Amino acid sequence: MWSLLLLFGTILLYLFIINEKRRRKYPSGPYPFPFIGNIFNLNINAPELTINEWRDKYGKIFTIWLPEPIVVLADGKLMETTFGKPGEVANANIMHKLVFGGTLKDNDEIMRLKIAVENVFMDWYKPSWMLLEVMPWLIWLEKFKIYDFGVKRAASYNDVFITFLEHHIKIHKDKRSNGNTEENDYVDCFLAEMEKNSGQGFEYWQFVIACYDLWAAGVETVTTTLQFAILYLIHNQNVQNKLKKELNNFHDEITVVNLKKLNYLNAFVQEVHRLANVIPLSLIHETLEQTTIENYKFENGTCVIAQLACFNLDPSHFPNPMKFEPERHLNSLTGEFAPHPLLKPFSIGKRSCLGESLAKPQLLLILTILFKKYRVKSLFPDSLPNINARPGLVRVLDDFECLLVEED
Ligand code: HEM
Repeated sequence: MWSLLLLFGTILLYLFIINEKRRRKYPSGPYPFPFIGNIFNLNINAPELTINEWRDKYGKIFTIWLPEPIVVLADGKLMETTFGKPGEVANANIMHKLVFGGTLKDNDEIMRLKIAVENVFMDWYKPSWMLLEVMPWLIWLEKFKIYDFGVKRAASYNDVFITFLEHHIKIHKDKRSNGNTEENDYVDCFLAEMEKNSGQGFEYWQFVIACYDLWAAGVETVTTTLQFAILYLIHNQNVQNKLKKELNNFHDEITVVNLKKLNYLNAFVQEVHRLANVIPLSLIHETLEQTTIENYKFENGTCVIAQLACFNLDPSHFPNPMKFEPERHLNSLTGEFAPHPLLKPFSIGKRSCLGESLAKPQLLLILTILFKKYRVKSLFPDSLPNINARPGLVRVLDDFECLLVEED
């Protein structure tokens, strides 16, 4: 009995020492337990809130273990100096046109794809998947039906999407082999490059995944942002009144340049970005060489995230940060749109969002067309729909119903 306890104690001590040795290489943060790190400390439904609490406790740079170490930059200025300055249906069809040309006619197909992408994204930050990442042998638990990680289900959603992409790529290939080599969209251009370089550097699977990234990153983010915008308008009818007033007085042609003149609309969209945090844990970056940040030296291959939500919800920059208030992005004297230079919903640096210049006008355009004509209201006068987002790489909102009332 005593020898068993001694063995157990020695193993624990050994794990503790190894853990401490690894921890010392990184800025301090919440204590990581051996094997599981901080996976279960993170409120997976709202990871940005837990990370904000850690920012208050550990400062602008700290480490979280999921279960591998990730260095979190939690301050707008630090994110900027580190990463450097940047060198539903309607939206799905805009992305489809960009990637594959043409539009999708079948709304059921669009919804089927959207659900597939949502499900793939939702699994991304599941604690059980983080464990699988470092202990892939745990998959045997699923194989022997002891624990369901949901890998099989996610793979089937993934297949739905890949089949759709390959089908459209094949249509383009057939068109090219029938002699039509016109380059009308992203897929045409990629196929032309593949032919020129006989596949070198432009491999088929790299191509499918690039289409996947563009379609999925573009559709999910914009639709989720629009859904948040609608929910915030239902919850804040005074904001909707001001927005509709500005749109009703706007008689210019609806163009990308003219939409920039709409101060309240732009401030409204900025406030939606600030509070919605559609990518709640940002994307993980990796250092490519030894890097120094705030006197910490990091080895090549260290994971780093610019945690945008830490800035977005920082009360010293945005008083009463959980309140939806577009006015905070307007100049109090002139009423002009005056966004905070460090509020970066599309992130910072060379790897910031590829779709920013597409997403911005897309949001302004869809909201202008919609709210010039309609008012959005709760279906039930006495209760408002919940603003409940499910966890994932990109937030997925719970379904909600609302009334669109025509009102010029
Ligand atoms: C409301 C709309 C959108 C928001 C808020 C948004 C936000 C972001 C953010 C925060 C990142 C992470 C950047 C980083 O790692 O630092 C990102 C990356 C990315 N976004 Fe967007 N995005 C939006 C729309 C789009 C659209 C329309 C497209 C497609 C055309 C797109 C394509 C991408 C891609 C491909 C990346 C990865 C870039 C890379 O790793 O180099 N996004 N986006």
